[in-house]
Amino acid sequence: MKIMIIGAGQMGSGIAQVCAMNGYEVFLHDLTLELVEKGRNGIKKQLQRQIEKERLTEQDADRFLQRIQTSTELRNAKNADIIIEAAVENMEVKKNLFTKLDSYAPAHAILATNTSSLPITEIAAATNRADKVIGMHFMNPVPVMKLVEVIRGLATSQETFDKVYSLAESLKKTAVEVNDFPGFVSNRILMPMINEAIYTVFEGVATPEDVDEVMKLGMNHPMGPLTLADFIGLDTCLAIMETLHEGFGDDKYRPCPLLRKYVKAGWLGKKSGRGFYRYSK
Ligand code: NAI
Repeated sequence: MKIMIIGAGQMGSGIAQVCAMNGYEVFLHDLTLELVEKGRNGIKKQLQRQIEKERLTEQDADRFLQRIQTSTELRNAKNADIIIEAAVENMEVKKNLFTKLDSYAPAHAILATNTSSLPITEIAAATNRADKVIGMHFMNPVPVMKLVEVIRGLATSQETFDKVYSLAESLKKTAVEVNDFPGFVSNRILMPMINEAIYTVFEGVATPEDVDEVMKLGMNHPMGPLTLADFIGLDTCLAIMETLHEGFGDDKYRPCPLLRKYVKAGWLGKKSGRGFYRYSK
């Protein structure tokens, strides 16, 4: 089975790595060769770390990398059995991609999206194969996190659901079935907490370090919400809050102005070198 992954950012490259490590042939696709190579080099570094920890042999790492071909041509979808889209969290971008993928991919191919919150049903409506469109929501970092939310759109067929559920299991993940509703389960619960943590900083109640400390030591969370927000990407956090706000029409989901300000400043979290904390690149 050949898997094409659209977007070689943090999520796309993580998904590509896990697919290659579990025996699948992968096309990793992004807008430019530079972006795909950046993603592939990230995977190389990850595997290198596993070799250093003696969890992986050099031969295996080479074998995994050889399974990942790079792509900057969306037409390569013609060779894929399943396409997992992990481009930016933007409905117009995703709809546009799905319309094109629908025209290039073979009739049997499943079109999955790793969206964090956008309606699967609306993305499916941009294609002529809504029965084969589904949400396959991995968690970050993909090689470490066990969960995949498998999200049924309104028209997703049982066959598509079963195939994607089995694919998740073959990647050694635990799949959970979820219906198409804003934020699904994971981000409907997680993101309002992160947004509230940002409000806490915005209103001067505590520093980011102290907010994180309270949630780590007080609630036994492995990571504070602001550190987690930086890992997710503040642009992605903002996009998810906007989807929740619009989808539920309730002001309790209003994105914190400080989150908007950081995103406007280009402080996107770990991936840009600065968010609530600073990171050396
Ligand atoms: P990212 O910013 O690291 O990567 C996005 C990649 O998509 C970039 O390399 C960009 O060049 C590429 N891209 C943008 N437009 C494209 C197009 N038209 N065609 C091909 N490639 C395109 O973002 P990240 O974090 O990897 O997120 C990707 C998706 O995964 C989003 O939908 C996000 O909501 C979702 N997601 C993110 C999680 C996270 O913790 N960051 C967790 C689970 C899902």
